[in-house]
Amino acid sequence: MSAVKLDATKLSYEINPDLSRVDWKYVCELFDKVNWRVREEREIEAAFKKSTWSIFIYEGERLIAFGRTVDDGRYYALLADVVVDPDFQGNGLGKYLVKTLNEKLGDNYHFVNLTAAPGKGDFYKSLGWKKQSTSYIWPQGPKQLRQHTEPDQ
Ligand SMILES: CC(C)(COP(=O)(O)OP(=O)(O)OC[C@H]1O[C@@H](n2cnc3c(N)ncnc32)[C@H](O)[C@@H]1OP(=O)(O)O)[C@@H](O)C(=O)NCCC(=O)NCCS
Repeated sequence: MSAVKLDATKLSYEINPDLSRVDWKYVCELFDKVNWRVREEREIEAAFKKSTWSIFIYEGERLIAFGRTVDDGRYYALLADVVVDPDFQGNGLGKYLVKTLNEKLGDNYHFVNLTAAPGKGDFYKSLGWKKQSTSYIWPQGPKQLRQHTEPDQ
């Protein structure tokens, strides 16, 4: 249940906005608020600028959710950085982000993937995503090894 009541009349959905106008310091604060690894302002801005689709959701002036896609234009695409401010979770914003980003990618790609944060698999399953049995990861450290891999058989 969301802690802050969402005023739907004040919501604005910005798809591929002018990224130079985004408050990247605040974006980093939202990553921090959902306990994701620290993002550096200039780096996350550069990463979004290399993304094909990005969505930012505001309630009034306040940024409350965002997400993006990365792809090669034809074969591989992935969803990344799907984040909803915990104050506004449970209002359908995450669902909107995932469905809209997926729709924007269309059916042009051979593979459309995402890496779920630990504990969020059921969120994606509820939206029709399937757990891929054949994906592999090159762990970028012990935490990732622990959180994103299965024990060797
Ligand atoms: C995961 C996240 C994006 C969900 O956003 P949200 O706006 O709270 O989700 P929604 O309100 O759109 O929920 C959509 C549906 O998913 C379900 N759902 C939401 N979070 C869930 C979870 N952790 N596990 C299982 N189901 C979940 C909801 O119950 C809802 O179901 P319904 O359509 O039957 O009512 C949000 O919790 C978040 O930003 N978390 C921190 C960052 C993160 O983990 N991002 C995603 C991983 S890559």
